[in-house]
Amino acid sequence: MAVGAEFPMKQESGGTEQCTANGRAARKPGCAAASCAACAAAEGDGAGHFPGAVPPCAAAPHPEQSGPERFDREQRRAAFSSPLPAVKYKLFVMSGKGGVGKSSVAVNVAAALALAGRKVGIVDADLHGPSVAGLLGSRACAVGADEASGKLLPAEFMPNLHFISMAGVLRDRDRAVIWRGPKKSAAVLRFIKDVAWGELDFLIVDSPPGTGDEHLTVLKALPDILAVIVTTPQELSLADVRRALGFLKTAGGKILGLAENMSGLSCPHCGGDIRLFKKGGGRLLAEEYGIPFLGEIPLDPAAVLSADLGLPLAAADGDGAAARAFAALAAEVDARCRAGAAVDFAARAE
Ligand SMILES: Nc1ncnc2c1ncn2[C@@H]1O[C@H](COP(=O)(O)OP(=O)(O)OP(=O)(O)O)[C@@H](O)[C@H]1O
Ligand SMILES: [Mg+2]
Ligand SMILES: [Zn+2]
Repeated sequence: MAVGAEFPMKQESGGTEQCTANGRAARKPGCAAASCAACAAAEGDGAGHFPGAVPPCAAAPHPEQSGPERFDREQRRAAFSSPLPAVKYKLFVMSGKGGVGKSSVAVNVAAALALAGRKVGIVDADLHGPSVAGLLGSRACAVGADEASGKLLPAEFMPNLHFISMAGVLRDRDRAVIWRGPKKSAAVLRFIKDVAWGELDFLIVDSPPGTGDEHLTVLKALPDILAVIVTTPQELSLADVRRALGFLKTAGGKILGLAENMSGLSCPHCGGDIRLFKKGGGRLLAEEYGIPFLGEIPLDPAAVLSADLGLPLAAADGDGAAARAFAALAAEVDARCRAGAAVDFAARAE
C-alpha cells in the first residue's frame, strides 16, 4: 500500500508535487501519476491519493508496483479499537504553549530511555510543524510500508528507537500543508495504530502546541496514555499549562507529571546561574495542582546545536547541563511508569 494513501491532504501549490489530487479534487495537468490505476481507484472511494508522499523507493513501494492491497476498512477499524497491547507505557508530551521544548523533551527522553536499553517509539503528532525527524537528523525517505500487513514502517534512529513523522512522508518538507479538520485526526490515528511498532517499552507522542483535534484523537485512541507536561518558568507558559490541565481534566487524561524546560542558564563564562525566564514556576504550579514534578532542564547552547545537528544531547551521551538533566528526566519518567505512579486528573474532585 502506498505510504500516505490514508493521508488525504493538500500541500500549497508550488508546482513540484506529482499530483494535487487528494481523493476528490482534480488531478493537476501533467501530473506524473496521472496514469496510476491505484490513484484512480482511490478517487472512487474517497480514500485519497497523497500528493506529497515520498517518491517510490524500496521502503515505500508505489501501489502501482506493489499491487493495491488496501488495508480493509473493517480491519482498520478493528486495529484502531485496540490500544496497542504490545506497548507497555504510552507518554503524551504536551504543553499548551508553543516553543517551550516539547519536541526536545520527547526526543531526548526517548533517546535516553533507548540508551538505557528500553525499546522506544516516537509518534510526531505535530502535522503542521513536524520536528521530530529533524531533531533526529533524518531527512530522506523515512516512512516505509509493509506490503503484507499494510502497516507503516517507522524510521530508525537506533535499533531500539524508531519514529514516525509527517516529515518522513512529505515530498517537500519546506512547503506548508493544508489540513482539513477530520483528516488530521485520521492521520494522527494512523501514525499511532497503523504502524508496525512491534513490542515497545515506551511509545512517546510529541504533540503540537495547544489543545486541538490532534490531542483529543490521541487521548481517545490511547486512553491509558500519560501526559508529560512541559512548561517554561515564565507566567505566559504557566498560564497555558493551566488551560492544558483543564483540557486534560475534561478529556479524561492521566498525568505522569510536569517538567520545567529552559529553567535557568548556566553562564558559559563564570558558571553562574542566570535566570533568563525566571525559575521554579513549574515546580510551584505542579505543587499547586498536586502533580508530580519530574525535573528541570536548563537552557543550554548545546541543546540548540544538537537540534541543528539532528543528534539529541541524550544520545550524544554528553556531560553538559541539559544532557544530564534530560537523562535524569528520563530516569524519573521510567521509574514513575514502572511504579504505576500517574495522577488520574479527571477523577479528582474540584
Ligand atoms: N533546554 C534548552 N536549551 C536551549 N535550547 C532549547 C532547550 N529546549 C529547547 N530548546 C530550543 O528551543 C526551540 C524550541 O524547542 P522545541 O521545538 O523542542 O519546542 P516545542 O515546544 O516542541 O515547539 P512547538 O510548539 O513549535 O512544537 C528549539 O530551537 C530548541 O532547540
Ligand atoms: Mg514541537
Ligand atoms: Zn557569567
